[in-house]
Amino acid sequence: MEAAVTEAAGSTGWDGLLVNARLVTLAGDAGYGAIEDGALGWRDGVLEYVGPAQALPADARAQAADVIDAGGDWVTPGLIDCHTHAVFAGDRAGEFEQRLQGASYEEIARNGGGIVSTVRATREAGEDELLAQSLPRARTLRDDGVTTLEIKSGYGLDFENERKMLRVARRIGEALGIGVRTTFLGAHALPPEYAGRADDYIAAVCEWLPALHREGLVDAVDAFCERIGFSLVQTRRVFEAARALGLPVKLHADQLSDGEGAALVAEFGGLSADHVEYTSPAGVAAMAKAGTVAVLLPGAFHVLRETKLPPLEEFRGHGVPMAVATDCNPGTSPLQSLRLAMSLACTHFRLTPEEALRGATVHAARALGLHDRGRLRPGQRADFVRWRIGQPAQLAYWLGGDLVTAVHVGGQAVR
Ligand code: NIG
Ligand code: FE
Repeated sequence: MEAAVTEAAGSTGWDGLLVNARLVTLAGDAGYGAIEDGALGWRDGVLEYVGPAQALPADARAQAADVIDAGGDWVTPGLIDCHTHAVFAGDRAGEFEQRLQGASYEEIARNGGGIVSTVRATREAGEDELLAQSLPRARTLRDDGVTTLEIKSGYGLDFENERKMLRVARRIGEALGIGVRTTFLGAHALPPEYAGRADDYIAAVCEWLPALHREGLVDAVDAFCERIGFSLVQTRRVFEAARALGLPVKLHADQLSDGEGAALVAEFGGLSADHVEYTSPAGVAAMAKAGTVAVLLPGAFHVLRETKLPPLEEFRGHGVPMAVATDCNPGTSPLQSLRLAMSLACTHFRLTPEEALRGATVHAARALGLHDRGRLRPGQRADFVRWRIGQPAQLAYWLGGDLVTAVHVGGQAVR
């Protein structure tokens, strides 16, 4: 008798059971994969049951440690923001005003503003101060449904300050109970002390990388390949340093001009090419062949009043997965809601609301090289969000608003 009870507990004795939920599973390659009157059961942070409530094992409710009634909420996989610069000090509202007067992002950068002005502020802030300034942004993203957040360095541009940024990123993950993936973006801009010596700076970046990696601070490596960033040759050197350590690469590619960045990151089997407004057909073909994700950043497109659309039809035609991210940063995309990024992707890029949701879940996970999240499926992490909405398209329809009932990471409610 005792053995039978133990066995029953073993089969459905979940840590948590969510019932009365309308699930958006995103199972399969298209469609929401919706299950009306659905249920989720999880143990040790991992989903064990995703399906209709009526197919639950008979003892599931009695055996679960915690039964949550979702009250008919829609439930999606936790959102994944796969491209942010959310750790920085200060702001650049002054540049926003300059751009409204007609100055371009490139002009401001060439005149000593832009990224380098955020570098000054970020270097001045101590680690705790940097955390204090950055944490509210990350919390805002989480509270609007983000359960995994990528955060790049790139405003330190020397060893200690890049390290400080990456440490703050890790501390954000601990403080908010969300997954944080760190990306080393030492090759973001040329710091003033290296003026006229970009190759020397790239050599220094390649030297810092192994030390930062040894400290467990680097999950991936990125660069800004652009006229006002670094050349293809310099970017290749950074990628070679990453490859020597077995680290995956991604790239700010073809944002302001076609610099053939997408083809380069594809050549390295990169996780993603990001921005990609000016990517050529050859670049798209290379991405398709390599399985590199296109990360669309409609916040930067919107703020810079860009008019050149990414090659969306080519991406679709070649089956290149399209992720959507905030690019949360003080210059080109002061955007603190992944849902708003989804909305902008629909309006500016004509993504369907379903494509936008897949872009912020399934394809975003892939852009981070993560296979354990992005859908509601047994074996995936129990990262999910409950939404007070009447239909899934509302996630990309509302501009702002508080639609979240609860955010769960590994089963735990963090909001
Ligand atoms: O993704 N393009 C380069 N990096 C950021 C902008 C960073 C900044 O302006 O501070 C981007 O748009
Ligand atoms: Fe960016």
